[in-house]
Amino acid sequence: MTDPQEVILQVEPGGRLHGQCRVPGDKSISHRAIMLGALAEGETRITGFLEGEDCLATLKAFRAMGVEIDGPEKGQVHVRGVGLHGLKAPEGALDVGNSGTSMRLMAGLLSGQAFDSTLTGDASLTRRPMRRVTEPLARMGARIRTSDDGTPPLCIEGGALLQGIDYRMPIASAQVKSSLLLAGLYAQGQTCVTEPAPTRDHTERMLAGFGYRVQRHDGCVCLRGGGQLQGGIIDVPADISSAAFFLVGASIAPDCELRLEHVGMNPTRTGIIDILKLMGADIQVENPREVGGEPVADLLVRSAPLRGVRIPPELVPLAIDEFPALFVAAACAQGETVLTDAEELRVKESDRIQVMAEGLTTLGIRARPTPDGIVIEGGQFTGGTVDSHGDHRVAMSFAMAALRAQTPIRIRQCANVNTSFPGFVQLAGRMGLNIQQQEGEA
Ligand code: S3P
Repeated sequence: MTDPQEVILQVEPGGRLHGQCRVPGDKSISHRAIMLGALAEGETRITGFLEGEDCLATLKAFRAMGVEIDGPEKGQVHVRGVGLHGLKAPEGALDVGNSGTSMRLMAGLLSGQAFDSTLTGDASLTRRPMRRVTEPLARMGARIRTSDDGTPPLCIEGGALLQGIDYRMPIASAQVKSSLLLAGLYAQGQTCVTEPAPTRDHTERMLAGFGYRVQRHDGCVCLRGGGQLQGGIIDVPADISSAAFFLVGASIAPDCELRLEHVGMNPTRTGIIDILKLMGADIQVENPREVGGEPVADLLVRSAPLRGVRIPPELVPLAIDEFPALFVAAACAQGETVLTDAEELRVKESDRIQVMAEGLTTLGIRARPTPDGIVIEGGQFTGGTVDSHGDHRVAMSFAMAALRAQTPIRIRQCANVNTSFPGFVQLAGRMGLNIQQQEGEA
């Protein structure tokens, strides 16, 4: 982390979550709204935009490439699209901070530009694997240099002639799929991506919403280069990945009743609800509706006794960002929870299997990491100091654990909570978590 002041979260034990609230906007949709809005003809007006550091990094990168963007102001952003060929060469490297989505998606679309560009990021992002995008992009004709071990920075040569490919992804990754589709906008012929399991499909939905022809069948998405995007209106729903902390918190603590409003319910994202329900959670989906091509609903969650489960492998990609929170639920459940087929968790903002296992163990829970998952025995959280390793979702998950702890939980390295959930401490406090933010010397 670059921040010399370490942010620490101190959470007192006990409390209950009660009332209703709307968590901030969906991170994945907010990134894509800026990217596609910038590449579109005409204007795009976004409401509910996530003003977290990750999406702001995307916004700044497009400003650096000459796109006029007003806002964000209370979640409203106005993008004046420059068209698919209207981006300008940025002056220096594009630094996207902690954001893997910005880097991987932009690697695809920058491969199709006439100018050279460099993508870089913070200490966490510059350790993360990028060959998963640079290799298939190279097959399309892109010229991208990485560090020897395939990590950032990415140096992308302009002027490459891209050719569409038919790519079978070895891993279920929406970032890889989206990167190739964005490169495909600039490629000759057809680009097809087949996924081994369904992953979030916001890119496909938004492309179609912007009038671009996208074909989808049997886990395969195809588009042809050379079309046009037409800007429009995007209403970003609340992020189900941010709602997840509250779904878990209100399930594990006694006497909770919490309504989460306007939550994105895209079926490629709702694995958290399915898994929590398998564990016995009491979650009701109210007022389901469709907003701008994405399903949305209010979620009513009440306390419930949870039981350990074997997490069905097909749900893993549909809950990929929610496992830190689910591990906290598993620690409060009766019996054992077993997760497999989730090796991807080792290359997120931190190694989420290792980091969560360490923190859970510190808090008195038996947690055994495996190469592709974890086994967690339900028990009693004691309390103590855990390290989030700069991972926003780890930090917020351990904050919820305090609802069932015996003594305070102190969480280190929490500055990155702002990447996805600005205002978490205030909102969680308002809903009933006894949480305080402190700053100390790192
Ligand atoms: C994202 C896809 C997921 C997810 C990430 C956001 C996206 O990554 O973990 O937080 O917006 O496309 P993978 O596609 O690498 O699984």
